Amino acid sequence: MRSMEWDNSCLKLLNQTLLPGKVEYRECRDYRAVAEAIRRLEVRGAPAIGAAAAFAFVLGAREIVTENDFFAKLAGIAAELKQTRPTAINLSWAIEKMRAVVNAYPGSKEDKTELLTALETEAINIYQQDENVNHRISQYGASLFDKPTAVLTHCNAGALATVAWGTALGVIRAAWSQGKIDRVYADETRPLLQGARLTAWELQQDNIPVTLITDNMAGWIMKKKLVQSVIVGADRITANGDVANKIGTYSVAVLAKQHNIPFYVAAPVSTFDFAMYSGEDIPIEERQAEEVTVFAGHRIAPESIDVFNPAFDVTPSSFVTAIITEFGLLRSPYSSAISKLKIMKDGMHNGIND
Ligand code: MRU
Repeated sequence: MRSMEWDNSCLKLLNQTLLPGKVEYRECRDYRAVAEAIRRLEVRGAPAIGAAAAFAFVLGAREIVTENDFFAKLAGIAAELKQTRPTAINLSWAIEKMRAVVNAYPGSKEDKTELLTALETEAINIYQQDENVNHRISQYGASLFDKPTAVLTHCNAGALATVAWGTALGVIRAAWSQGKIDRVYADETRPLLQGARLTAWELQQDNIPVTLITDNMAGWIMKKKLVQSVIVGADRITANGDVANKIGTYSVAVLAKQHNIPFYVAAPVSTFDFAMYSGEDIPIEERQAEEVTVFAGHRIAPESIDVFNPAFDVTPSSFVTAIITEFGLLRSPYSSAISKLKIMKDGMHNGIND
């Protein structure tokens, strides 16, 4: 299963707002359509919005290629795309990779054919790398389990949240195929129900046994010893190991600690914000009140009620047992583990570890 496909002139996004009822692709032929799909969560999940934004950048560059102020306009498009969702760092990471191609472009400022080709190549690179990286994460993650066990996950960090395969669900897929996971408990994940609509659907497609619970059942499931570990994805991990992820993740981490259950985070290096020291500084997206006051098209709260609707929360690194990356497992002390990760990533980028 893939969350998106690129066909040279069009980005086809699996419209996740219609799942699980309808499998329908939205065809985006300009960057504005992609930006809207990101805002509306038709495409969602940190790595998926990064890849989608990279293709949006290509579409935007093509649209303005003949204009005199091409470079200034392209910077405007980059800024617009970055603002669509502020918490997931993968979005800025992908846009910065695209901007680096523009900055390094040695060719003629008049004929931009080669630049457009280079941009498309980079977007395809980001897209293809995501799937490869997820497979590497999942092998490291599967090594954490040694006997059949039940895990709890929150939100959706699966194929839908990435280009393909998934991070937390990628680990679950790999561990399940090795006989190390026998059941997944999926939190429904209010208010937008990514767990009920997406995780439950994805796992069912793969015939992985999944039990859906409402978010407020997680503590009781742990108390009853029905799960032995928790694994989630991430939208941004700061240099000290704090983890931003879907709202409700922090509560699950606190519950896991109380019940002595390991709490694992699976994320690619593109989710690390090496320049931000602490989770305190992560911008947390707040979304419309209607996501809370309206359920399945029906208003469930009084008119004009005050609502607080943060889309993400931050779990302090002290609650995290290990972070699973494509370079291996990170454990506390996270500041030094993450600075070593940065050195490895930079080395890879410079060809040292190729
Ligand atoms: O608001 P969403 O659905 O984009 O939130 C997604 C999550 O919080 C995921 O857990 C996270 O992006 C990791 S996806 C591999």
